[in-house]
Amino acid sequence: QTEISRVRNLERIQMGRYEIEPWYFSPYPAEFTDCDLVYICEFCLCYFGGSTQFIRHRKKCTLLHPPGNEIYRDENVSFFEIDGRRQRTWCRNLCLLSKLFLDHKTLYYDVDPFLFYCMTVRSEHGHHLVGYFSKEKECAEGYNVACILTLPQHQRKGYGKLLIQFSYELSKIENKLGSPEKPLSDLGLLGYRAYWQEVIVDLLVEREADGAPMISVEDLGQALAMTTNDVLHTLQNLNMLRYNNKNHVIVLTDAAIAQRERQKEKERVKGKRIIEADRMSGWRPPV
Ligand code: COA
Ligand code: NA
Repeated sequence: QTEISRVRNLERIQMGRYEIEPWYFSPYPAEFTDCDLVYICEFCLCYFGGSTQFIRHRKKCTLLHPPGNEIYRDENVSFFEIDGRRQRTWCRNLCLLSKLFLDHKTLYYDVDPFLFYCMTVRSEHGHHLVGYFSKEKECAEGYNVACILTLPQHQRKGYGKLLIQFSYELSKIENKLGSPEKPLSDLGLLGYRAYWQEVIVDLLVEREADGAPMISVEDLGQALAMTTNDVLHTLQNLNMLRYNNKNHVIVLTDAAIAQRERQKEKERVKGKRIIEADRMSGWRPPV
């Protein structure tokens, strides 16, 4: 764990068919600072300072997906589960790459304590990395996500929400309440708030339509594998929390329903992506 508070050091990177400008410093070897373009193999995540070396590497590299078990697959995406201890080099390369887009000051060189859940989209050429989250194998604070990233070339297409949903589906199977590691980045907070609001309002609307009685904050958390704290904050943000004899009362407001309807209209236009939870029923927490 190293303190990093230095300026952006890589000019541009190439990954698959994308060229990307990094946002932040990442501790790639010093000689890469002088390169106009750093080539990153989109499958093994190794990095090269020149096109000749990179082309030579691509002829030899046989990896076509992240080096772990495929634990989820639907029409659009797959998830691979990777143990940091078993795939040290690959996971360190992933951390180096993601640090280019993460503002926090520490980088975890020690990947052994983490599992990495990597989301890919398929093409005839292989499984292309879109984003991932890491998760501590043993987390005293109960966090279900350590780091989360959608690669910049794939952001704002709903993949972040898929990653977040997946992390909560894992927590549901583990029978635990989850919450992301704090502090969250600005973008992280936007992504989580959007997800939390959506799942809470959807569940309340569905229950109301079924004529079910109003649910408690705790039961809402249980149903969604969210901590009470995260449920309370979300309800406060939505202005859906009232107090009655010092008890919390949830009020499903017209404003919240209307906002959710506008969102749904946007999803219909963009094509909504969701995780189909029944496709991960075979998953068990790795021991
Ligand atoms: N501006 C405003 N709202 C944003 C936003 C932005 N740049 N990015 C995400 N959101 C909000 C929106 O409400 C969005 O829904 P919408 O597109 O329907 O309006 C919602 O979050 C979900 O967006 P989505 O497309 O699913 O997220 P994403 O794939 O872009 O990924 C992050 C979100 C946080 C993973 C991504 O921004 C990221 O990787 N950031 C850099 C790394 C980082 O900061 N990670 C968190 C560390 S704690
Ligand atoms: Na939570």
